[in-house]
Amino acid sequence: MIEELEQTAADASARLAEVTDLDSLATLDAEFLGKKSALTLAKKQLGGLEPDDRKAAGKALNEIRGRIEADIAEARQRLTADARAEQLEAERLDLTEKRDEIKRGSLHLVTQSRDRLEDVFVGMGFTIAEGPEVESAWYNFEALNIPEWHPARGSFDTIFVNLGEPEQVMLRSHTSPVQIRTMENTEPPIYIVAPGRTFRTDTADATHLPAFNQIEGLVIDKGITMGDLAGTIDEFVRKFFGGEVKTRLRPSYFPFTEPSAEFDISRPDGSWLELGGCGMVHPNVLRNCGIDPDVWQGFAFGFGIDRLAVMRYQLDDIRELVNNDVRFLRQF
Ligand code: DAH
Repeated sequence: MIEELEQTAADASARLAEVTDLDSLATLDAEFLGKKSALTLAKKQLGGLEPDDRKAAGKALNEIRGRIEADIAEARQRLTADARAEQLEAERLDLTEKRDEIKRGSLHLVTQSRDRLEDVFVGMGFTIAEGPEVESAWYNFEALNIPEWHPARGSFDTIFVNLGEPEQVMLRSHTSPVQIRTMENTEPPIYIVAPGRTFRTDTADATHLPAFNQIEGLVIDKGITMGDLAGTIDEFVRKFFGGEVKTRLRPSYFPFTEPSAEFDISRPDGSWLELGGCGMVHPNVLRNCGIDPDVWQGFAFGFGIDRLAVMRYQLDDIRELVNNDVRFLRQF
């Protein structure tokens, strides 16, 4: 009997090693250890044996049962672990699934151009200054040597704000007022650039926007000459566009500089593109800010950031910058 049971235990062990799911395991469990199993039936026969034999046979039966139980436990553990791994795999959330469809945004072209300009000028030792977009006539005109009767006032196409005395409050028509605000508040030497929004009554067309962006430069120090101005413009253009682009100054007129010039940059085809105005800061402007023109001299310049972006990215129409068409903006 014991030998038969040993054989049963060996079968059980072999079949349990190959069982592949928990249901089959339950069936095997009943087959080998249940009420109708050979082991249970054998146990029932123990009562008919002599006490010594009974003891020995009982011990052997328990030992065999123990082995089968251990095999079942091992199979259960294996199958439970498999089932859990399977469930984890099935319920797994793939958080990377849609990754390719997420479109990253980018900074607007004008912002990119402004950031780049700031980087270039900061690299040359300038700091960034700012001023308000709503200005008084003093900062936008008078302190810049443009008195009320001056014909240049008309050329700025100013958008006035209906506040206080007529034509005394306005949206700034250029960033030059930041020169005045800086000189009022800062002891020379001064090396600043002031980027910001500016406004004029212009109707939008391929080369004009009524709200646009300028960057102003101002240097006040001792012994500053027109040569420093030319060198600064040359250096910034080289850094901004790369080595190929040349610059030139042409005599011009602005009330706030003397002498004044316009500066051009060379196009790939050899022609010239006008970028902005510049000159040596007029002594009246220095005096208006409490700076002694016999001790300090300086230069200033100003130009449009949007136009620079149009040039750099070869756009046909400046209005693309404000149409907010994502198909256009995404390209940059
Ligand atoms: N403010 C002038 C404009 O908007 C540009 C300009 C010209 C700025 C000469 C300057 C300068 O600082 O020196 O047309």
